[in-house]
Amino acid sequence: MGIAEAMGIDIGGSGIKGAPVDVVAGRLTERRVRLKTPDPSTPSNVAEAVAKLVADHDWNGPVGITVPGVVLDGVVATAANIDDGWVGFDAREHFTRALGLPVAIINDADAAGLAEARFDGDPSGVVILLTFGTGIGSALLHDGKLVPNTELGHLEFHGDKAETYAAARLVKRESMQIEWWAERVNEFLAYVELLFSPDRIIMGGGISKRFDEFAPLLTTRCTLEPARLRNNAGIVGAALFAMEETA
Ligand code: BGC
Repeated sequence: MGIAEAMGIDIGGSGIKGAPVDVVAGRLTERRVRLKTPDPSTPSNVAEAVAKLVADHDWNGPVGITVPGVVLDGVVATAANIDDGWVGFDAREHFTRALGLPVAIINDADAAGLAEARFDGDPSGVVILLTFGTGIGSALLHDGKLVPNTELGHLEFHGDKAETYAAARLVKRESMQIEWWAERVNEFLAYVELLFSPDRIIMGGGISKRFDEFAPLLTTRCTLEPARLRNNAGIVGAALFAMEETA
């Protein structure tokens, strides 16, 4: 019992979500708990929230944690939508010690991409998962294998970062009409297609819950689909990664 379980924790710009995951079936085994991302979102404030999630679930096994930034061997290298204190922070070392459990750290969109590739009927070809939330995250996969830290949300667009131009927060917080947002997303998708010619683009992140509403407004050459695991893809992918990295 419980052998193929790891806990996944998804640290985002607005919320920190976590749950134990059955990594064979790709589903949460307990209720997902969500805490607001503390302000300021310093490593120590976030670490307190992470410890609370782990304690709430009485969890005692491997833990996978996503971070919204580039992650190189457990160390966070960039922090666009989270406190600057994360840059250079050895998250794996810190959380391993603080939780007293085996910990693996991965970029949030990469985690979602891993989960979608694993629980997808056909992961073949070039697949790009894009998360639309506070920023825009990306995962590039070829035949199910991840090329980590692609950061396509940081491509330059109209003199700004793509994620500033087309993030989903524009719809949520600044109540931009969904049609306007979709036009911007279409420009971004066309650019991504021009650069990578993917076979499929998967849309994840907070906005994926509303995929049916905005999908008719989006145009791509390749297949466009919502993340099967919707906004839980990050949690499931973090758990998968932890299972593999800490085995
Ligand atoms: C970060 C990425 C992250 C994305 C989504 C971007 O600002 O640079 O690493 O995946 O936001 O959270």
